[in-house]
Amino acid sequence: MKVISGFSKFDHKQRLDYITANSDLTEGDSLHLDDYCPPNGDQQRLFSEMIENYIGNFPIPLGVVTNMVINGEAYIVPFVTEESSVVAAASKAAKFWAERGGFKAKVDAMTKKGQVHFTWNGNPESIQQLFPEIKRKLIDETLELTAKMRQRSGGITDILLSDKTNELAGYYQIDVSFETGDAMGANFINTVLEKFASVLENISELNTHDNRVEIIMSILSNYTPDCKVNCWVECPVEQLSGWNKSLSYNLFATKFKQSVDIANLDISRAVTHNKGIFNGIDAVLLATGNDYRATAAGAHAYASKEGHYRGLTTVTLTDQTFRYELEIPLAIGTVGGITQIHPMVKNVMAILKYPDSKKLMMIAAASGLANNFSAIASLITTGIQTGHMKMHLSNILNQLSTSETERNLANDYFSDKTVSNSAVNDFILSLRSKI
Ligand code: MEV
Repeated sequence: MKVISGFSKFDHKQRLDYITANSDLTEGDSLHLDDYCPPNGDQQRLFSEMIENYIGNFPIPLGVVTNMVINGEAYIVPFVTEESSVVAAASKAAKFWAERGGFKAKVDAMTKKGQVHFTWNGNPESIQQLFPEIKRKLIDETLELTAKMRQRSGGITDILLSDKTNELAGYYQIDVSFETGDAMGANFINTVLEKFASVLENISELNTHDNRVEIIMSILSNYTPDCKVNCWVECPVEQLSGWNKSLSYNLFATKFKQSVDIANLDISRAVTHNKGIFNGIDAVLLATGNDYRATAAGAHAYASKEGHYRGLTTVTLTDQTFRYELEIPLAIGTVGGITQIHPMVKNVMAILKYPDSKKLMMIAAASGLANNFSAIASLITTGIQTGHMKMHLSNILNQLSTSETERNLANDYFSDKTVSNSAVNDFILSLRSKI
């Protein structure tokens, strides 16, 4: 492969020409890369400036989950997802729980963290002694950077020095806590940390002829155990009978608890259990322009906080009451990033009635719990494939390039039969052989 320089300077046509010449994309295919680009010039410019080496837009369906009641307030929740059954599953659980008091949620704190990692080979006691003075300098020298955040009651809330020299020669961390209001705050935090790093490099007592601060890196942490949301549903056990008639409510509750207990003791199950939670959370985070990679990294680490990876939910069954709770760190925002410039995110925020970041944490958590509840409830009763494959039928039919008539016939035929790739394939082949 020939190394290319300056691709980012190419115009749109040059980029497509380069790709068609160096890949299996044909000229005919490349014409369709523009199919999903909005005709409005300003929007097109906006997207093209969002990332490097832009060549087109990549649509993923946007749907809504209705009947989502959280702390007594009803929401229509936009989901962006490519998985057929996710919106249907969350909607089923949202409606079920809306009729049983809805979801309850709370956020106790929204503290985010960042670190400056550095080495220094002087006497560990002397840096500890100097630390109050260092801390004062760090705060003073970032007053300008933090001014706006402080006006919104945010900013730096704590600065600690951690001596890690026993773990890595000469290694220290400055651990910084931040409140970032309605912003996720990544850019703010990283800017402050990089300024901290340059302040550290210039403190004369730490930077002598034979001993200097060597900055390794300065970066926020996506581990946010102090920015977490608790979300739960609760009802008398007998009210669980509404979900599925195939099990008695007591057996439903018992099996539900067993399945959650299994996710707490077995990593193979725990990962899939948590994936089901992220079906809902990621769909909301994508729709609201949030960084779903950051929250996934943080939440999966949180799932391991007791030394082994476990499910993020717990069930309690006491006095014939069923309570199901999700506890998850979610550092997300409703301002900053692309939240106020992406045209679809603007609409999504309006559909959600412009939540602040605390409310959005609760909405995302309730969506995750809704998807997970639906998944577990299906797994312990009918299994998930019936519902999942019903939703996936249209994808299979589209993959087979079916006509409208074929699709109608297939939808009728499979309304009371098990959907599988081969069964649908056989059905369409049999239709076509009769022509
Ligand atoms: C599929 O997207 C999600 C599930 O596998 C989650 C689970 O097993 O709990 C159904």
